[in-house]
Amino acid sequence: MIERLEALRQKALSEIKAAKDLDVVELIRVKYVGRKGELTSILRDMGSLSAKERPKVGKIANDVKLALINAIEKKIESHKKSLLKDDNILIDYTLPGRRDFSGKKHPITLVYNEIVEIFLGMGFELAEGPEIELDYYNFEALNMPKHHPARDMQDTFYVENDWLLRTQTSPVQIRVMESQSPPVKVIAPGKVYRRDYDVSHSPMFHQVEGLMVGDDISMADLKGVLTLFLHRMYGEDVDLKFRPSFFPFTEPSAEVDIQCVICKGKGCRLCSWTGWLEILGAGMVDPNVFKMVGYDPEKVTGFAFGMGIERIAMLKFGIDDIRLFFENDIRFLDQF
Ligand code: PHE
Repeated sequence: MIERLEALRQKALSEIKAAKDLDVVELIRVKYVGRKGELTSILRDMGSLSAKERPKVGKIANDVKLALINAIEKKIESHKKSLLKDDNILIDYTLPGRRDFSGKKHPITLVYNEIVEIFLGMGFELAEGPEIELDYYNFEALNMPKHHPARDMQDTFYVENDWLLRTQTSPVQIRVMESQSPPVKVIAPGKVYRRDYDVSHSPMFHQVEGLMVGDDISMADLKGVLTLFLHRMYGEDVDLKFRPSFFPFTEPSAEVDIQCVICKGKGCRLCSWTGWLEILGAGMVDPNVFKMVGYDPEKVTGFAFGMGIERIAMLKFGIDDIRLFFENDIRFLDQF
């Protein structure tokens, strides 16, 4: 058996040495040390040896195996090196280069951050509230008792009992006023939820709430703050319009329109040929709301406003379908 092993070693090594390419080397490997290879079958016969011979033969068989594997590896190495020298073979200069893909901020994050920056710059502080909210904060304390018709303006996801997914960031106003006394100057950005789904509505979207309460806060302050904000966001030359509106928690209330970003006021499909786009809701805090949080409406006044971040972003970037923000198509996200 030792003779057989030595003969096999000689034969295999010379075959490896003579091999011209890697395919041949692989064939040799399979032929000798593969699962059905010659060396493997000799090793299998070792069972018939006496207990005295077995370790001796076993050692030689192992040596042979290692020598072959070594020789094969060396052959492969040197073959690769010789290919590298002949650079036409291994390096294909026509292959496109490898590109690095870097992550980007989501357009909503970009606009969210921009809005927050502008208001922080005006001295507002950040406030937060829970997304799973009590009916009391989302509606009741905002001057919308049970069965108030204004509740229908917002299709609500109810969780259980008195819990719901907040339909607006306005409940944060109540939480802030409950926990601190005037003056108050906060913005509250965050996610809100409504049962709605089409090109301009998504069941989850983002709002930013603003609240300013103090001794002598007037509608003029509201106009000043919002005008400054919208000019920072859309440019100094954009025209604004404050239009009377209704919200249960503000009186008087207004909606703010900006000149259409597409047609610049001439009239187009986006603005339904009016030249104007509705951008946010606002108003003077209703005395009933102050009473709910224990503020004296005879002593303090304030304003509040709320806007949808998706809408601000759509108008800023000229996007016509809100759902694009949440489909996470990389071709869309890559553009910001
Ligand atoms: N919460 C209102 C909405 O979602 C917006 C708003 C906020 C209006 C604050 C007035 C004051 O429609």
